[in-house]
Amino acid sequence: PVRVLTGITTSGTPHLGNYVGAIRPAVAASRDAAVESYFFLADLHALIKVQEPARVQRSTLEIAAAWLACGLDPQRVRFYRQSDIPEIPELTWLLTCVAGKGLLNRAHAYKAAVDRNRAEAEDDDAGISAGLFMYPVLMAADILLFNAERVPVGRDQIQHIEMARDFGQRFNHLYGEHFTLPEAAIEEHVATLPGLDGRKMSKSYDNVIPLFAPREQLCKLVFSIVTDSRAPGEPKDTEGSALFEIYRAFASADETAAMRRAFAEGIAWGDAKQRLFERVEVEIAPLRARYEALVAEPQVIERQLREGAARLREERATPFLAQLRRAVGLAPLD
Ligand code: TYM
Repeated sequence: PVRVLTGITTSGTPHLGNYVGAIRPAVAASRDAAVESYFFLADLHALIKVQEPARVQRSTLEIAAAWLACGLDPQRVRFYRQSDIPEIPELTWLLTCVAGKGLLNRAHAYKAAVDRNRAEAEDDDAGISAGLFMYPVLMAADILLFNAERVPVGRDQIQHIEMARDFGQRFNHLYGEHFTLPEAAIEEHVATLPGLDGRKMSKSYDNVIPLFAPREQLCKLVFSIVTDSRAPGEPKDTEGSALFEIYRAFASADETAAMRRAFAEGIAWGDAKQRLFERVEVEIAPLRARYEALVAEPQVIERQLREGAARLREERATPFLAQLRRAVGLAPLD
């Protein structure tokens, strides 16, 4: 079977972008017998952005519950929390020592932070943690530890997968063929879900629609999606319309074609938003009910996560790290 791995950073409440870009396609793929799935909660990554312990913990619970509510079957899928596998930070160090610093300088998130500093005539690295700089190496360790072949992610993460390939290749070249080189798998039509303001939906832009917002809040948020000022009856552009893009991520091809016609015929924004709300609500409502029940039982989720990590360490992480330690010369003196 092909090994598929993906993670979500536990830095906030799961949102529709996580759902259409990661959770929904990953859970659908995990039902295929030809696929071996690894889904995890990237809580070590969360510390880069969030230094509020209660928020990291709450987010871990919410994202775990979201995966389960969306149909992840913990019997079939390897489901775990990054920080329960100490081999991940250990491998991060081995990869750090082969990772090119110049490559890390070019990582989008780090570069964007440097550019912001420059724009404000600050020191390049002012306020930037070494954790942010090392983000791609930790992510490479997540992927390479389990020799994942396919990594389903949104378009924003492609560069990170390419870096994982680079570090893996460098390591293989120096120490022998230990790592499989991963490929990114992008769902083309949902490449990047826009948020309320039309930019990429992201915790950092504060423009998200929480995946399990209660019905009334979901409706309110959908009605707050930015639109232009065209009046009812005036044709609307689908190009660049956040409303249309979000609709498309939830609708069938026929429904999308019908919405496209409605735009051309000048549907009122309020009517288009009502249609979007109803389409999302139909899909999310049954998942929301399950989610609420799961969040109310953190101990059940905690047990599943621990069992998931224990099993993975035994079957893969611990023996593989022993192999890598030997390969680099961290071997017993016998
Ligand atoms: P994160 O937590 O930012 O996002 C989790 C997943 O959701 C996708 N996503 C989106 N997809 C479409 N439209 C959007 N607006 C949107 N926002 C988020 C992301 O592409 C991602 O698939 N670095 C990763 C977490 C991670 C990881 C890994 C992923 C850590 N280690 C190893 C894969 C493999 C991240 O911060 O994702």
